[in-house]
Amino acid sequence: ANGATEARYVMAIDQGTTSTRAIIFDHSGSIIGVGQQEHQQIFPRAGWVEHDATEIWSNVRRVVADALAETELTKDDIAAVGITNQRETTVVWDRTTGKPVYNAIVWQDTRTQAIVDEFAKNGGVDRFRKRTGLPLASYFAGPKIKWILDNVDGARTKAEAGELMFGTTDSWLVWNMTGGPNGGVHVTDVTNASRTLLMNIETLSWNKDLADAMDVPMSMLPEIRSSSEVYGKGRSRGFVGGVPIAGILGDQQAAMFGQTCFEPGMGKNTYGTGNFLLMNVGEQPVQSENGLITTVCYQIEGQKPVYALEGSIAVTGSLVQWVRDNLGLIQDAKEIEGLARDVEDNGGAYFVPAFSGLFAPHWRPDARGALVGLTRYVRKEHIARAVLEATAYQSREVVEAMNKDSGQDLVELRVDGGMTANELLMQFQADQLDVPVIRPKITETTALGAAYAAGLAVGFWADLDEITENWAEDKRWKPNGETEANDKLFRNWGKAVTKSLDWVD
Ligand code: G3P
Repeated sequence: ANGATEARYVMAIDQGTTSTRAIIFDHSGSIIGVGQQEHQQIFPRAGWVEHDATEIWSNVRRVVADALAETELTKDDIAAVGITNQRETTVVWDRTTGKPVYNAIVWQDTRTQAIVDEFAKNGGVDRFRKRTGLPLASYFAGPKIKWILDNVDGARTKAEAGELMFGTTDSWLVWNMTGGPNGGVHVTDVTNASRTLLMNIETLSWNKDLADAMDVPMSMLPEIRSSSEVYGKGRSRGFVGGVPIAGILGDQQAAMFGQTCFEPGMGKNTYGTGNFLLMNVGEQPVQSENGLITTVCYQIEGQKPVYALEGSIAVTGSLVQWVRDNLGLIQDAKEIEGLARDVEDNGGAYFVPAFSGLFAPHWRPDARGALVGLTRYVRKEHIARAVLEATAYQSREVVEAMNKDSGQDLVELRVDGGMTANELLMQFQADQLDVPVIRPKITETTALGAAYAAGLAVGFWADLDEITENWAEDKRWKPNGETEANDKLFRNWGKAVTKSLDWVD
């Protein structure tokens, strides 16, 4: 019944850092229905961030049911399901019981810094960069697997006996959706695999030397597949039975797909819990010399992979949540804009949200958050402004690195994600970058990208050209051209960054 000819919709499951959503799209890429559920953020110690993978799986079943109920559709209306996910977040589970052996260790978690420092003793942080495209950092999955095997009772013995499986949340979900211990398929896609420090970025296969160096048994690793192909079908118990699961993309790569950045030179910036700015560099991986990382952008079944350069910023939107939850300055994240608008400028205050150290382009695990430039004059409104500005300055640092690496200057920036609703931030971003910032009509580009990948695999969309026609501009913010003043703010930001460094030994 799920032939592409009859079913009129595609469903995306977006398993993000703070919530899980199921979104149903039609052929024009418009949203028909949404189910959404937040999950618990577990902070057992400073620097540790965990999720309960079992809670996430039950949320997936619930949001899928909610999205279908809201739209009064049934599984027979869905041509395919695409998965997109928070990347690097690591789940290790028992292949017989289907139970995780430990909470999922989230990408923001810094507990593996000691493991990473140990690896870096021999060859420095760029020891594996040529092979993987990545610097050694607590951000990536490989060291998180090692931590679980080294610290959970009995885990290493079980792993060595072939009894445990590793996956980022895409693998965890697809395995469960396709039957779990009863025949579930254990797969991931090239984009997620490119975030583990275990995959060779050119051959797109797991590298035995890297796995050995990281003490990870190869038997735990999922099969690496393209981003757009049928991996398996949903099982009726607990999931839409018989519907092909036909796309997997890490969420930032999915946003590239949803923004239709299919040509080299095209890029986007997603404003989520963190910010992730990616630029398509074509069919050959490009190594960064300015603190960016090399990643797989996507691969369509039977075609060559497409690569991207990425600037990953750990904390942007989650700083607004922190101001809400930990400081109580606002009740709702949206209120930050109104508060910031009550003042003309930042009053001299700068907030460097180095909660997980600093990622791109600095890669400084020793950094911690800093709020500087304070005087008696500074009020909470100025802090609200400094919070928003931090996102724009961090994005500018990444754009400058991108311009240096690519040898050409960005001409415009496509944006998406929750914070693009913040007009003050978007205008400030355009001013800081001195290029137009453009938001498309559908800002749910992450989910849309996963839907596109799945729909392509089953013939729901014919090709990338057809998808590209769906992209439409919604709003454009033009830079104010006050270069001198904008540059001065950015120089002050640079000074503030220096104050956040060297905090942790
Ligand atoms: O690399 C982490 C990234 O994939 C997380 O994205 O949108 O869940 O914060 P998001």
